[in-house]
Amino acid sequence: MPGIIVVGTQWGDEGKGKAVDALGESVDYVVRYSGGNNAGHTVVVNDQKFIMHLLPAGVLSKTATTVIGNGVVIDLEVLYHELDGLATRGTVVDHPLISANAHIIAPYHQTLDKVTERFAGKKRIGTTGRGIGPTYSDKINRIGLRVADLLDADLLREKVAASLEQKNQLLVKLYNRREIEAEQIVEQLLGYAERIRPHVVDAARVLNDALDEGKVVLFEGAQAHHLDIDHGTYPYVTSSNPTAGGACTGTGVGPTRIDRVIGIAKAYTTRVGEGPFPTELFDADGERLRTEGGEYGATTGRPRRCGWFDAPVVEVAATVNGCTDIFLTKLDILSGWEKIPVCVGYDINGERSEVFPMTQSQLAIATPVYEYLPGWSEDISAARSFADLPVNCRDYVKRLEELIGCRISGIGVGPARDQVVLINDLV
Ligand code: GDP
Ligand code: IMO
Ligand code: MG
Repeated sequence: MPGIIVVGTQWGDEGKGKAVDALGESVDYVVRYSGGNNAGHTVVVNDQKFIMHLLPAGVLSKTATTVIGNGVVIDLEVLYHELDGLATRGTVVDHPLISANAHIIAPYHQTLDKVTERFAGKKRIGTTGRGIGPTYSDKINRIGLRVADLLDADLLREKVAASLEQKNQLLVKLYNRREIEAEQIVEQLLGYAERIRPHVVDAARVLNDALDEGKVVLFEGAQAHHLDIDHGTYPYVTSSNPTAGGACTGTGVGPTRIDRVIGIAKAYTTRVGEGPFPTELFDADGERLRTEGGEYGATTGRPRRCGWFDAPVVEVAATVNGCTDIFLTKLDILSGWEKIPVCVGYDINGERSEVFPMTQSQLAIATPVYEYLPGWSEDISAARSFADLPVNCRDYVKRLEELIGCRISGIGVGPARDQVVLINDLV
C-alpha cells in the first residue's frame, strides 16, 4: 500500500497532523504537496506540543524522509526557523529534500497579501497574511521565483526585478506604500542559497523511484477540500489545490500510484477566516465547542468559528477526493451533550437538498436541516477500540459513516499520539 494521501475534508484544522503522526513508523517518505506556512499541523508527543507550518507533521516520525514538493510555496526564513527549532528540541531532520521547482515566498508577497486584504475591507478573505495568494499568483502569471533560481544569482536577479517592476507601481500608486528595492530582496534570498543547495532535488524522480522500490510514501495535505481554489467555497479559499489531485501535480507522481486517500474529518466543524459556513453557531453552544475543543488557530491564533458536523460538506469531499477511508477526529470533544445535531441537508428557498450547494448564491441562503442524535456522557479519551466506546457514540460514528458514504477507519479520542481508535489498518 505505498502511495497514501491524507486530505482535509472540511475547512482545515481537522487534525491532519495528529492523524499523519498516528500512521507512525511504517512510513518511509512524508511529503508536503501544496500550500505553505499558512498551515499549522499540531502533533502532541509525550505531552510535548509541536506545530509544523511548512515541514510535514510526519517529520516527527523520525524514520521517514521529509520532502517538500513542487506544489508548495516556501518562506525560507520559516523553513530554517522550523528546522532549527526542531533541532533545539531534539529532532534533527536528517536530510530534507526540496523540489527545485517549488516556489519561493518573497517578502513582497507578504506585503501584498497584507495590503490587499486591508484594501478589500469588508470583502477581505481573512487570509493568514503569509503571502500565499500573491506567490501563487506570480506562479500562474509566470513571474514567480523557484528554488532552483536561488542557485543562479543572475537569473534570480533578473526574475526579482521583473516581478517587482509591476508590483512597485501597485504598491506606490495604489496602496500608498514605499517602493521595494530589488537588490535588497535578492541579497536576502541569496543568503539561503548555500544552505539549501545540498537539499535541492528532482523530487518527482526521488518519489517515483521510492514507489518503485515499494516504499511507503505519505502525501500530507495542508488546508482542505473546501479551501481548494477549484473545489472550495470560492472566493473564500486558499490559492492552491489541497485536494487529492494536488498531490499528483504538486509532486510529480501519477494518479495510478496512489493506493489510498484518507479524508480527515472533525466530529464537528470549524473554519478560520471569512466565507460561508452553514452550520456555524453564534450562541453558547458554539462557544462551548470552541472552549472544549481548544479551537484557536495554530498559525494565527484566531478563534475558530465553530458549528455542528455538516454531512454534505464531508460527503462531497469524500467523493471528489476519492477517499477510501475517513479518519474522524476530536470525537472526545462531543462527550457530555444530551443531543448532538448533525446537518443532513439544507433548505434552499423552501426546497430540500441533500447535497452541498452547487453555487455561491445557493450556499449563501442554505439553511441546515438537522437530525438530532442522542449524546453520551462518558469520557472516551481512554478508549482504544471501537467496542470501548459507549453505544450512542458508536451510533454517532455509524450514522456519520452512512451520511458520508465512506468507511470510518480511525477515530481520534484525544490530542496525544496514542489516543486513537483504529477500526481498519491505515497503512
Ligand atoms: P491540522 O491543521 O488539520 O493538522 O489541525 P490543527 O493542528 O490545526 O488543529 C487540530 C487540533 O486538534 C490540534 O490542537 C490537535 O492537537 C487537536 N487534536 C487532533 N486530534 C484530536 C482528537 O482526536 N481529540 C482532541 N481532543 N484533540 C485533537
Ligand atoms: P491547515 O493545514 C485553516 C484559510 C485562511 C483564509 C483562507 C485563505 O492547518 O488546515 P491563505 O493565507 O491561505 O491565502 O488564506 O484559507 N486557511 C486555513 N484555515 N487551516 C489551514 O491550514 C488554513 N490555511 C489557510 O484562514 O480563510
Ligand atoms: Mg491547522
